[in-house]
Order: sequence, then C-alpha cells, then structure tokens
Amino acid sequence: MNLTFSQPIQKDIEPLIDIFYESFPKNYKLSKTVIKDVLELYIPAAGKHFLVAKNPKNEIAAFICGVKDMRKPLTQALKTLPKSLTFLTKPHSRFIIPPLFVQLFSGAHLVFGSTHSKYRKQGVFTEVMQKSISQLKKDNVKKIWFETLDGNQAIKRLAEKFGFKLIKQFPYENQTWSIYLLRL
Ligand SMILES: CC(C)(COP(=O)(O)OP(=O)(O)OC[C@H]1O[C@@H](n2cnc3c(N)ncnc32)[C@H](O)[C@@H]1OP(=O)(O)O)[C@@H](O)C(=O)NCCC(=O)NCCS
Repeated sequence: MNLTFSQPIQKDIEPLIDIFYESFPKNYKLSKTVIKDVLELYIPAAGKHFLVAKNPKNEIAAFICGVKDMRKPLTQALKTLPKSLTFLTKPHSRFIIPPLFVQLFSGAHLVFGSTHSKYRKQGVFTEVMQKSISQLKKDNVKKIWFETLDGNQAIKRLAEKFGFKLIKQFPYENQTWSIYLLRL
C-alpha cells in the first residue's frame, strides 16, 4: 500500500482511539477514556517515533508507538497520580509500564501499535515497523524491545521477520508474556 508517515495531529486522535479500541478490547478491557489517557501520555513521550501511517485517502491505516527513553512516559505517569496508580492495578497497566523492569532504560521500546481491521494482512504493519525501526536506528538506538502476549501470531511472525530474539517468557493473566529484543 502507498503509505505516508507522520506524527499524529489533533484530528488524528479520534480515529486513533477507534483503531486502538477495536484492536485491544478483549484482553485489556480498555475504555475509550483510558485509551485517550494512554495516547496523551505516549504521543509527547514518543515524539517523532509515534508514527501514523495514512493511505492515499488520508485515512489512518496503522500506527506504531516507539519510545526511545521510557523515563519520559513513566515520569509523566507518576506526576498524574492517583490516576496512574489506578492504571497500575489493571491489566491495561501494560500500556503504561511494560513488564520489563530490568531492561526498562536500556534501549528503545515499541510500546504498542496496530493496523486498522480493514487493512490487515496486506503488509501494512510490516511497512510501519520497518519505518519505525529505521528511524530509531537513525537516532542511534542500539536495542529495541517489545513484548506481546503469546497468542498473538501476527506479531510473533513480525518479530521473526525483523530478527527480534525471544529473551524471556513469563506467566501473565493466565497467558504468557514474551519479551523480544532486536540488536541494531
Ligand atoms: C498485529 C497486527 C498489527 C499485524 O498487522 P498487519 O498489517 O495485518 O500485518 P502484516 O500484513 O504486515 O503481516 C505481518 C506478518 O504477520 C502475519 N499475520 C498477519 N495477521 C496474522 C494472523 N491473524 N495470524 C497469523 N499471522 C498473521 C502475516 O502473514 C505476515 O507474515 P508474512 O509476511 O510472513 O506473511 C494486526 O493484526 C493488529 O493490529 N492486531 C491487533 C493489535 C496488536 O496485536 N498489536 C500488536 C501488539 S502491540
């Protein structure tokens, strides 16, 4: 697909919330309000590494949030207590603090991303991830982490395609978390 990449602008927020909402409703019980909070936390923290991919009709086909330094969203989340404390007790805390404490500040994180359901299985996220990784690489990032629940075959396939290595797995909410690392 012919995609253009940019940082999100104000009018992208509502469609981003909708795509996010339909992508992660079951596992994380995310309400649209929580998603808005998550986006408001991460869009500034990610800066140019929050990429929105638009098709020629200017519709958002996919997005990815890469964060070069996780200290930014974490510091911000802690400032907005007690709201962020509520986050930490819920399954969707994963969107605030990925369960990767040991490695938290070593390298960048691909925190979340998704493809609009209309555009899945057409190579869109492959393009988005390629763009995100090459931007992080240009920014002198040497390691990129990401985590996923084990049942997500598409993201596991993407991890393999880009040469991420499985580093660690542990139980999470009756499922398995997998932690991947790409060394650049
Ligand atoms: C994961 C996701 C982003 C993939 O987006 P996509 O644009 O469909 O991905 P692509 O078309 O680039 O496909 C990437 C690879 O995954 C494979 N794949 C895609 N959907 C798949 C599925 N449902 N089951 C198994 N493999 C799948 C593709 O075959 C492709 O591998 P290939 O190149 O060897 O054929 C999309 O399914 C999604 O938004 N899921 C919900 C949100 C999510 O899980 N986000 C990631 C974690 S934060």
